[in-house]
Amino acid sequence: MTSEPSISAIYEEALRRLNTRALGYRVRHATVSDIDAVIDINMSELPEHYPRSFFEELLERHGKAFYVAESSSGSVVGYIMTRVEIKPGFFKHFLVKSGHVVSIAVKRDHRRLGLGYALMAYAMRSMHEDYKCSETYLEVRVSNKPAISLYEKLGYRVVKVEKEYYLDGEDAYVMARKLP
Ligand SMILES: CC(C)(COP(=O)(O)OP(=O)(O)OC[C@H]1O[C@@H](n2cnc3c(N)ncnc32)[C@H](O)[C@@H]1OP(=O)(O)O)[C@@H](O)C(=O)NCCC(=O)NCCS
Repeated sequence: MTSEPSISAIYEEALRRLNTRALGYRVRHATVSDIDAVIDINMSELPEHYPRSFFEELLERHGKAFYVAESSSGSVVGYIMTRVEIKPGFFKHFLVKSGHVVSIAVKRDHRRLGLGYALMAYAMRSMHEDYKCSETYLEVRVSNKPAISLYEKLGYRVVKVEKEYYLDGEDAYVMARKLP
C-alpha cells in the first residue's frame, strides 16, 4: 500500500508544477468579483450546477479554501470551492471537522498544466491550516478517470460508493484522506 503524501510535499509539488508547466499562471484566493467567472466555468465544465447564492455562501463562510487559477492575461480559468463540515469521520468513529471539496474545474484549454493539482494542494493546505480539518472528502463520478487519478495522486482513497448519486443515475465514489 502506498503511503499518503504529506500536505507540505503536495504543496511543494504544486509550486514546482506551477513554475514549470504553468508558467505565467497563478493560484490565488477567490473574491466576490470572481463569482461570475467561477459560475461560467462551472456551467461549461461540469454537469452539476448551483444557485449563485451557494457560491456566495461558500465564499463568505469558507473563503480561505476557495481558490481560483488565473492565466497570465488575468482571466480566471479554474476554481476550487470547499465547505467545512462537522460529520462522522471516515477514519475515526466520532465527529470530526472535515473539508468537503464541493467543486473543482479547470477550463478545457488550460488543462494538463498542473492547475487542478495546484488548486487541490492550496485548498488542502487551507482546510488543514486555516480550518483545522482532520479529514477531507469529495464525491466523484465513477467514470471520471482524470479526476480520480488526480485525487489518488493527492492521497485520497475510495471509502464508499454512493449508488445513483447523480441526477442522471451515475454512481459516485466517495474519496477521503486524513489531514495533514
Ligand atoms: C479534473 C480536472 C480538474 C484536472 O485538472 P487539470 O488542471 O487538467 O489537472 P492537472 O494538470 O493538475 O493534472 C493532475 C493529475 O490529474 C490527472 N489527470 C488530469 N487530466 C487527466 C487525463 N486527461 N487523463 C488521466 N489523468 C488525468 C493526472 O493524474 C495528473 O497528474 P500528472 O500531471 O502527473 O499526469 C480537469 O480535468 C477538469 O476540470 N475536469 C472537468 C471537471 C471535473 O471533472 N471536475 C471534477 C469533478 S469531481
